[in-house]
Amino acid sequence: MQNKTTLSIYVDGKKISAAKDDNLLDILNKNDFKIPTLCYHKGVPSYGACRLCSVEIKEKEKTKIITSCTYPIRTDGLEVFTNSSEVLEIREMIIKLLLAKTPSSEKIKELAKTYGVESEDRFVTDEDKDKKRNKENLCILCGLCVRTCNDVLNKGAISFVNRGIDRKVAPPFEEPPKECIGCEACSVVCPTGQAKTKIQDSRKYIDPWGAEFDVIKCGNCENLYFFTDQTINEVNYKTKSESELNLGSVNEDSEYARYCPKCKRKLNIKNFKDSKTLI
Ligand code: SF4
Ligand code: FES
Repeated sequence: MQNKTTLSIYVDGKKISAAKDDNLLDILNKNDFKIPTLCYHKGVPSYGACRLCSVEIKEKEKTKIITSCTYPIRTDGLEVFTNSSEVLEIREMIIKLLLAKTPSSEKIKELAKTYGVESEDRFVTDEDKDKKRNKENLCILCGLCVRTCNDVLNKGAISFVNRGIDRKVAPPFEEPPKECIGCEACSVVCPTGQAKTKIQDSRKYIDPWGAEFDVIKCGNCENLYFFTDQTINEVNYKTKSESELNLGSVNEDSEYARYCPKCKRKLNIKNFKDSKTLI
């Protein structure tokens, strides 16, 4: 494998090494620079929707503001400023807008507290004031759930619909999506808790898309476990070779896939101990 070129960058005056094309936000995080983010997840393609991770860069004597989560490092000697007055101003403005849009979001309130930002009435539109939905709506339209469902899982169960103040994330025709497999990935990545999963009486509810599923029983201990049949089928389809690798003495994909995490761990430890070839 070809080695990547190593570059030096200067973040708030501190020299840091990075490989060419490394994601700037990852490098900042790795070096303990605190950059707020909302729409970034390492496992999901970056899009630069919330702009909260904005930093200022200086290249060839020119400065500009960029979103660090979408920026590949390509210039040796790149200078990065994470707290310049422009960066602080943009960050404050974004948080004020988010506070106006989702005043009930604990995540946004926490962010505002951390960065000493207070809400301002001038950002709250008349529609926002009037709409009860604004009190319940925690969605900041970051699109992480949509990108996860479409780009990572290739399911396309949800997408953005409508324009302007009516823009939102919804399943096709705003009906419970047939494409949803109940994997919960949208709830896991959602930064505000708008996309959430509830399990009650062996049923799983993915809100707010209206999807509902039976949860399965572990194939070994028979305890109820959060997977759905649809998720198992997807896992079996996509990771056949991986499950075969893990299976050891169990040859049935679906049997292993139906084990709860605790039983899978036990089985893997047993297989590892039993394996003479590994030691
Ligand atoms: S539901 Fe959550 S993840 Fe999806 S767009 Fe809204 S805030 Fe982002
Ligand atoms: S985290 Fe980079 S734009 Fe949202």
